[in-house]
Parts: sequence; structure tokens; C-alpha cells
Amino acid sequence: MSYLTVQDLHVSYGPVQALRGVNLHVEEGAIVSIIGANGAGKTTLLNTLSGIVKARSGSVLLRGKPLPERACNIIRAGMAHVPEGRKIFPGFTIEENLMAGAYIVDDQQLVEQRRNAMYARFPILAERTLQQAGTLSGGEQQMLAIARGLMSDPGLLLLDEPSLGLAPLVVKAVFELIREIRDKGGKTILLVEQNAKKALALCDYAYVLENGAIVLEGKGEDLLSNPAIRKAYLGAEDA
Ligand SMILES: Nc1ncnc2c1ncn2[C@@H]1O[C@H](COP(=O)(O)OP(=O)(O)OP(=O)(O)O)[C@@H](O)[C@H]1O
Ligand SMILES: [Mg+2]
Repeated sequence: MSYLTVQDLHVSYGPVQALRGVNLHVEEGAIVSIIGANGAGKTTLLNTLSGIVKARSGSVLLRGKPLPERACNIIRAGMAHVPEGRKIFPGFTIEENLMAGAYIVDDQQLVEQRRNAMYARFPILAERTLQQAGTLSGGEQQMLAIARGLMSDPGLLLLDEPSLGLAPLVVKAVFELIREIRDKGGKTILLVEQNAKKALALCDYAYVLENGAIVLEGKGEDLLSNPAIRKAYLGAEDA
């Protein structure tokens, strides 16, 4: 089943056309990647899906139903967004950041259950519940941002450049975590990444965004071996 369907999506910022008719599908249980250069429109796409930016035209279906308009209702419908640059609340504690991810959940018992599940999954956060989130390392902040995103128990998780600015070992841990969230957590994932090599190796299917339009799509492994992709996005000179 198509978990997410985006049809002919157009987004403009005043005179700047950021998305020009984007079409994509995300199958339930898949990891789908979007790769593209700086300014291609990747963040705009995720921000539009999560209701931060309004589309000029086009349609978005989540599990076959039109996406609600308001961001809080989009979260209720089962989509959570882990934004570019993590955007944790630096002056809040780790616990407060986690709780912020569950602001749409009224059942306090359920919120506590989920918080405890996050602490079990991310021991580094459990050790520091009262520490100010801004004092965490970049990798720890990324883990917190992902854990916060999971607090609404979304069916679909949007991840915007989760590996950006992290050391290689931490990047590896983040990619392993994404796979685990899908494999063990049963989530569907839409992943925007500048690390095209790792994203294509991980994903089931990928789209290449250039100047606000999808120019190529295919299985991750096929794009990895595509000479044009190797040259443009993987830094391969032999392509
Ligand atoms: N709030 C805004 N106002 C005006 N133009 C914007 C705004 N946000 C983004 N843009 C423009 O829209 C285009 C797409 O930007 P976007 O941030 O979506 O790209 P991106 O693919 O996420 O890039 P990056 O890899 O650098 O994160 C760019 O030309 C950018 O300058
Ligand atoms: Mg971006």
C-alpha cells in the first residue's frame, strides 16, 4: 500500500519556485530517500508535508486520505518530522524535549510509557534526563531529535539530513538507528540526506531532486551504480 502519495506539488516563496510539480510515493514499511544538491528543495518538500510551509498547488495523500492542513493534525494523522539541524530546544532538559514530541497525546500514562521506551532504547538520554539539551554533543542531539519525533508514535517518520555535521562513527550509528526504526519499530521512513552513498545503500527506493523537480528515481542499489549519479552525487571520477 502507498503510505504517502505526493502529486504535482508546487511550492513558491514569493518569486522563488522551490518545488515544481513533485510526484512521489512511499510504500508502507519502506525507507525512501531523497537526494539532491543544496537548494534543490529537499527541506521545502519535508516542511510542506509536515504543514510548516503551504503548497501553492498539488495533493498529498497519507494512507489514501488527504493530508490535514494544520501541523498538529498532521502529527495526529501519523506523520512526524525530525527537522534539518535537529532543532531540539536547547534550554529545555532532555525530558522536556521528549515530552514536547508528545504534545498531541492526551493520555499521560501513554506518554510516560513512550518516554520510558525511549529511555530504554537510548540509554545515553536516560542517564541525563535533567541535563539541558543544548549541552549534548551533536550526535546525542540527533538521537534526542529522533526520539522526540518517535514520541507521537508516527507511522511515517520524515528525517531531514540526520547525519549532517556528525563524525563518521556517529553517522554510522544514525544510519543503523534508521534501519532499526524501520525493521523493529515497523515505521515507514522518508529520508532526506546529503550523504547520498549511505542513503542509497540503506533505502529501498530513492528520488533525485534537482531545482525543485524529480529528475530520476529508482531502487537505491540501481541509483548507486548509475554513472550519472556516481559522478554528480558520489564524487566518483571514474563514471
Ligand atoms: N523561507 C524561504 N524564503 C525564501 N526562499 C526560500 C526559503 N526557504 C528556502 N528557500 C529557497 O528555496 C529553495 C529550496 O530550499 P531548500 O531549503 O528546500 O533546499 P534543500 O534542498 O533543503 O537545501 P540544503 O541541502 O542546503 O538543505 C532554495 O532556492 C532556497 O533559497
Ligand atoms: Mg535542506
